[in-house]
Formats: sequence, structure tokens, C-alpha cells
Amino acid sequence: MATTRHENPLAFLDEELAELRRQNLYRPLRVMSSAQGPVATVDGREVISLSSNDYLGLTHHPRLRQAALDAVRQFGAGSGAVRTIAGTMSLHEELEDELARFKGTEAVLTFQSGFTANTGVIPTITGEADLIVSDGLNHASIIDGMRLSKAPRVIYPHADVGALREKLAEARAKGGAEGKPHRLILVVTDGVFSMDGDIAPLPGIVEAAEEFGAAVMVDDAHASGVLGKNGRGSVDHFGLHGRVAIQVGTLSKAVGVLGGYVAGSQALRDMLIQRARPFLFSTSAPPAVAAACLEAIRVFLEEPELIDRLWANTRRFKSELRRLGFDTGVSETPITPVMVGDSATAQRFSNRLFDAGVFAQMLDRSLTAFDSVGRELGLTTG
Ligand SMILES: Cc1ncc(COP(=O)(O)O)c(C=O)c1O
Repeated sequence: MATTRHENPLAFLDEELAELRRQNLYRPLRVMSSAQGPVATVDGREVISLSSNDYLGLTHHPRLRQAALDAVRQFGAGSGAVRTIAGTMSLHEELEDELARFKGTEAVLTFQSGFTANTGVIPTITGEADLIVSDGLNHASIIDGMRLSKAPRVIYPHADVGALREKLAEARAKGGAEGKPHRLILVVTDGVFSMDGDIAPLPGIVEAAEEFGAAVMVDDAHASGVLGKNGRGSVDHFGLHGRVAIQVGTLSKAVGVLGGYVAGSQALRDMLIQRARPFLFSTSAPPAVAAACLEAIRVFLEEPELIDRLWANTRRFKSELRRLGFDTGVSETPITPVMVGDSATAQRFSNRLFDAGVFAQMLDRSLTAFDSVGRELGLTTG
């Protein structure tokens, strides 16, 4: 019997892509053919890279390269299994011990990425009897972590401690299912917000949480290596050690490699090992990754001048951009948004800056490019 030929069942993808292109929302991938760094070769051109999260230049730091090479020689290229079967190497545990000391917590568990740390921890510790209270601008991985949890959630307006208190007061007054008190109320916030670069008002968040018996979880992806002593993060920056139950971090940004972690109590680590699905069902980091991350933490401790330089560059770059007439929003950190209006203008601005590809005397040359492209598109009067 002849089978009927069907049209391509994925044809809708072409239509949706065409629509994205029409709205100027389609993002092609730019391809780097050099190491990551302040100057990189992208799409065949040498340009200044202002877009990476390689805050301290550790992606190509000689000590990390060497640690990775040594680990490959000693342990091979891959870990060969998930952590709970045969994929826990001494290097993974060494890294976790070093991170726990660094963060000042009882224990740490590493994950394959910051994304999987969030999607692992949130559904592990929350369920139907709990409530998650989340900042309106939290990262996508927190949102996905909440989606994977059976816990109901409420969103408070971005960084608004007053509104957070109201949500917490209401949750305590009403309770959860059948009016029973929630087992856990978890307040979740980014430490540094990845789009706008502002710092969460953590002291107020912690006070509000303590008043209503809630626990706080901070995602310090953009604060590690940037805020606090030797880059210990936002909890250290605000002197809140012992008052934030869960700190999530990434090893993929200032640390310069790949991975994520959850820092907190020993019981939290033990439970994540039993239940966190990305930990249980996905292979652990290769030895070179774990070894390079371990070396990065030592660099944080032994080369604090890298963090000082990051902040000096940040201050200078922001003040010069403002002097040129750019609006850099509410950022308080090295993340420097440049507000240029709608997404089509932003795309055009970014493309033209790329065309003006700057490669030497980094910040000065990039500021010159910002200046000329800003004038050309009528965004600044400078
Ligand atoms: C706030 C925040 N959390 C988590 C992540 C995910 O980290 P990773 O890149 O290690 O998966 C990111 C990365 O974009 C982030 O900005």
C-alpha cells in the first residue's frame, strides 16, 4: 500500500524564523577563531571583546591553562560517568572543598553549569507545601528551576524590598494549601542582575526574609570574582555570612571555565546528591575543567590586583561613556548596558560597532568607536 507523502512537519520553523528576521530579532552566531580575551578574532576580524563574561581574563590565564594540561595528562580527557555512578574524581571534591572555604559555607556541590545548578537546587528543596518568592528580573535558569518545582510561586517587582515584605506578610497570613503554614518560603534573587548590572538590595531582602521566617537564595553568577573580598560574592560584599541559606555560583564567568555550584549547609549538599536531577543524570565535568576552576579560585586569592583592575576599568569606561552622552542605565557593576532605544537600533548599533572593529589600546579605541557610531546613529550629541 502506497504511503502518503506529508509536507515537512517542521515547516513552521521557517515561518517563525522569517518573522524573527522581519522584527530584527534574529541573532546570528558570531564565531571566534582565537582564544577568548580582550582582543579576539571574531568572524575573521580582530576586535575588542566587550561582550564576554570573562571579567578577569582567566579564560586564557597561564595558570589555568597549565592546570588543565596537567589534569589531562594525569586524569585523561573525560570523567566517564555521572557523579553518583563512577564520575566523582578527587579533583571534583578538591574543588568543592576549596569553594566551600572560599565562600565561607559548610559545603559546596558543583554542577555542570550555573544553569543546571539553579534547575537542580530549586526543585530539590521546594514542593507543593512550599512557596517561592522571586524577583521579577531573575535569570532564565531560576525561572526554569521554578517551573520544574511543584511549589507555587509569586513574583515581586524588581529589587522592591517593600513589595517583597508585602508578599511575605500575605503568604504568612494566608498559608498554603488548606491554609496550612508553608513548610518553606524561599526568596530567590540574582546577586547582580545580568541585564542591567544592578546589585540586589540583599540586606533588606535578608531582613524581610528573617522577619517572616523565609530562607534566602542568591544567584551570584555575576558577583563571583567581582564583588566582595577576593571576589567572594554579594553575601560577602554586604557582610551577610550565615544569613543567606543558599548561594549559587557559576564557574563559567569570572572563573573563566565552565560549571556551577551550590554553596550552603552540609544537609543541603547531601540532599542535592540524592535528588538534584542534573547532578544525578548528567556526566560530571572533565578533569581539565575541574582543575582549571580550582586554579582560578587560587588566582582570586593570590592575584587580587586583577579584581582591582576590573573595577578601575569599569569606573573609567562608564564615566567616559556617560561623558560621551550615552545612557548606561542603573548598573553598579562591570556589566554596562548602553541604552539605545528599540531592539532594531540596538542591533544596528552593535553591528556598526563591530564594523568599527577596534583592536589595540583597548578601552580608548573602543570608546572612540562608541563615540563615532553613537554620533552617526544620532544617539549622542557628545
Ligand atoms: C544570573 C545568572 N545565573 C545563571 C547563569 C548560568 O550560568 P552558566 O553560564 O554557568 O550556565 C547565568 C548566565 O548567563 C546568569 O547570568
